[in-house]
Amino acid sequence: MENPAKKLTVASEILGTGMCVPDRVVSNEHFAAYLETSDEWIRERTGIVERRWCDEVTSASALAEPACRDAIKAAGLTAADIDGIVLGTVTPDNIFPSTACYLQSRLGIQSGYAMDVNAVCSGFVYALTTADALIRAGQGTNVLVVGVDIYSRIIDPNDRGTCVLFGDGAGAVVLSRKKGDKLVDGAFGDHMVEGDVRDISGIYGSELRADGRYADLLCVPMGTAHPPTPESLQRGDHFLKMQGREVFKFAVRSLADVTKNVLDKAGVAIEEVDHFVSHQANKRILLSMAKHLGVSEDKVPINVDKYGNTSAATIPIVLAECERSGRIKKGDLVLLSAVGGGFSWGAVLVRW
Ligand code: UT7
Repeated sequence: MENPAKKLTVASEILGTGMCVPDRVVSNEHFAAYLETSDEWIRERTGIVERRWCDEVTSASALAEPACRDAIKAAGLTAADIDGIVLGTVTPDNIFPSTACYLQSRLGIQSGYAMDVNAVCSGFVYALTTADALIRAGQGTNVLVVGVDIYSRIIDPNDRGTCVLFGDGAGAVVLSRKKGDKLVDGAFGDHMVEGDVRDISGIYGSELRADGRYADLLCVPMGTAHPPTPESLQRGDHFLKMQGREVFKFAVRSLADVTKNVLDKAGVAIEEVDHFVSHQANKRILLSMAKHLGVSEDKVPINVDKYGNTSAATIPIVLAECERSGRIKKGDLVLLSAVGGGFSWGAVLVRW
């Protein structure tokens, strides 16, 4: 039987990773000191031990800048080589322009494009898929893909069901067109289709999903449709609201489904995947996902204990840490998956 993986087209690959978290460590005791909660409850129900929070003035673009500089350096490039920025965030510097534009200016880049993607905790998976599609469409050779969020600004400090979960952080990768890639029928992405692509580094496939019927289960209500008024501010509509239990159930199901779909489309067996790098919201979600997929927990990197849920930043932070520690090595097959507000969810299969 023909190997279905041979039909894959690979247009782009990850050349460098970077991350940045604020210096300030916030322990579980911080919350136990003023709320009805405990270190024990938070550890048992979420796996979180501590998280990092920014000071009051650091913006998302400022937090992302060092992560991007690291990623660009690790890719063996300079900022001048970057043709575009695709940045996932829901805690932008301003309503507009995009945080990506502020970041572009901080990095001293004056050419190419810059845009934000709002897919909440799925922001990085959405941004990476967008960047791969842009490269296939001939829009640039080196694209900076960023996930950054500062949830310490949007959590209600008195809601114990949410405030203990989130941290601030940034992660980035440089996604580059594969050398030797050719234009075929007006689009890039015909790299080595002749041979077995299983040993070629790059993005093998992805799937993005959303279901807006669940929008209100995880949201910040305030916005242009619900502008701030003394009453809405009093209600705390500017803070994140979440039906945690519903999100939990949906997360396990959707992460497992989308993972299987991406592997099926790529013709790759689940046993071939070396690492399941999934959104770090809750250790129990990650372990349930592993169980649903029937994969060993050893293949699921976890750092939610150190950083909490950093939303769009969790996946690139895990990638940067795993690459630096040697856990993810050249040639490894990595399945990225995330789920978040919207609901939005998605997965990307990458050969390192
Ligand atoms: O990034 C994507 C978006 N976010 C997520 O993926 C988060 C998904 N959800 C979760 O991780 C979990 O649902 C939570 C950690 C938010 C909650 O854990 P749970 O095991 O689902 O708890 P629960 O919501 O069912 O609540 C159980 C009890 C409730 O008390 P009662 O009603 O049984 O008396 C809560 O009020 O735990 C209570 N509770 C807490 N108790 C101590 C909720 N938060 C806390 C807390 N400390 N921090």
